[in-house]
Amino acid sequence: MDDPEIRRRRDDDLKACVEALATVYEADRYPARWPDDPAGWLTPDGLLDAWAAWDGTCVLGHVALTRTGRAMAAEAGLVPDELVSVSRLFATASARRSGVATALLATAVAAATADGLRPVLEVEDGGAAAVRLYERAGWRLVSSREGDWTTADGRTALLHTYLAPAGEAR
Ligand SMILES: CC(C)(COP(=O)(O)OP(=O)(O)OC[C@H]1O[C@@H](n2cnc3c(N)ncnc32)[C@H](O)[C@@H]1OP(=O)(O)O)[C@@H](O)C(=O)NCCC(=O)NCCS
Repeated sequence: MDDPEIRRRRDDDLKACVEALATVYEADRYPARWPDDPAGWLTPDGLLDAWAAWDGTCVLGHVALTRTGRAMAAEAGLVPDELVSVSRLFATASARRSGVATALLATAVAAATADGLRPVLEVEDGGAAAVRLYERAGWRLVSSREGDWTTADGRTALLHTYLAPAGEAR
């Protein structure tokens, strides 16, 4: 596959992003429950920026940056103003293992770093592929806690907080 084109998400990209998300939900139950308003789910409170990866007119993946809440900042041991959260990261099932998520993550990290912010994220314990991706990119596990929701396979969610490598921030 050619390198995907990564560009800042526009409002009129949302329909294609939702279609891509639907394939991820079918393959991985991500998100754990299909949202009533999937475009809204891709546009969470505190959204700062979002990008999609494209192959022509087809969305291959997506990532967003949001403000970091106090709870996640406390997990990271830093103050919210120093942080920015990576969220809504996915690659479509047919585009997997070709570097789409790595490229999206690098785009989000570069934007965060340019703003002097340290990227942080949460990943559920069952997301083995995502954990491997983050660890391979040098992210560090800083804490884990139980979530207040149940995973698709019936477990209480276990949420891991990861920080981007220090060299890539500030
Ligand atoms: C996790 C996810 C985003 C990875 O997307 P991707 O585009 O396939 O990832 P990449 O091709 O950039 O993979 C980079 C590295 O991550 C690791 N990785 C990715 N998928 C993996 C898998 N299924 N199993 C093991 N390692 C995996 C590998 O180290 C891989 O490098 P390699 O292919 O050279 O071995 C994708 O599987 C996905 O969308 N999953 C469902 C949604 C999700 O979990 N989102 C994260 C929420 S926190």
